[in-house]
Amino acid sequence: MSKEVIVLSGSGAIGIAIVRRIAVGKVLLLADLKFENAEKQAQELRNAGFNVHTIACDVSNRESVNKLVETATGLGKIMGLVNTAGVSPSQASAQRIFEVDLYGNALLFDAFSRVMAKGSSALVIGSQSSHRLDSLTLEQTKALALTPTEELLHLPFIKEVNDSLKAYQLAKRGNALRVQAEAVNWGRRGARINCISAGIIHTPLANEELNGDRKDFYRKMLKELPVGRGGSPDEIANLAELIMSEKGAYITGSDMLIDGGATAKFWWDLTN
Ligand SMILES: NC(=O)c1ccc[n+]([C@@H]2O[C@H](COP(=O)([O-])OP(=O)(O)OC[C@H]3O[C@@H](n4cnc5c(N)ncnc54)[C@H](O)[C@@H]3O)[C@@H](O)[C@H]2O)c1
Repeated sequence: MSKEVIVLSGSGAIGIAIVRRIAVGKVLLLADLKFENAEKQAQELRNAGFNVHTIACDVSNRESVNKLVETATGLGKIMGLVNTAGVSPSQASAQRIFEVDLYGNALLFDAFSRVMAKGSSALVIGSQSSHRLDSLTLEQTKALALTPTEELLHLPFIKEVNDSLKAYQLAKRGNALRVQAEAVNWGRRGARINCISAGIIHTPLANEELNGDRKDFYRKMLKELPVGRGGSPDEIANLAELIMSEKGAYITGSDMLIDGGATAKFWWDLTN
């Protein structure tokens, strides 16, 4: 019988917390732009009894993503895909954020949509930041949801953005919209696809934001969160585990916000 495979793209803090929940007893393929990240995580997981393979992959490169799909399908039937490969506003330019977080995610979903097994599930980690964006026009909304992957980076309202935070917000909004649009096709294969929009989760990526150019903005947000603290990768994994499991079988095309109330505070704190 073919083995069940879980693929993690971006072997960082949130992704690893998720696969620890969903890859027990399965074959786990860890991918990362920095192969050493994947290898380091693999060592720890192997010590914990996981069956782990590693591969270098740049999600913003079609050839690299095709190689990931080929490697994954060679290991067995794909039951889970988790995309946590991302760069944040303090880590990269607007262009690089669009390449990795917007185009890369669309590329990955395209490539895997053809090989996901019946009953499988995919997930991308979006961001609460996308919920702070003003409303997009209907055309922009449709464009993010439906534009063929290779044309995404050429959309005029994407090309004109130079600010890395705006790029991050648009890219993550794109993730949530893409998931909604893709859910229809994926349903025809008996597969599900969802997005989690995470708030401030204590990871190396969030720490760069909390100490980067916009540190005052992020520290204020953290201090004022309705739940009174930042989140942990395990708290994202709690929700991801539900979505990816049989218990989440009715969830598809969804964008779930888990942000300690950051979005509620941003839009509806009338005391400000
Ligand atoms: N930590 C937070 O507060 C937070 C909040 C909202 C959303 N997110 C999102 O969650 C995801 C995971 O973030 P994290 O906090 O676990 O960060 P992390 O830095 O621990 O993990 C991200 C991983 O992605 C890898 N990566 C970067 N570019 C890549 C590429 N082109 N191809 C393949 N891999 C690549 C990095 O090497 C890193 O290992 C990101 O998409 C991030 O935007 C994080």
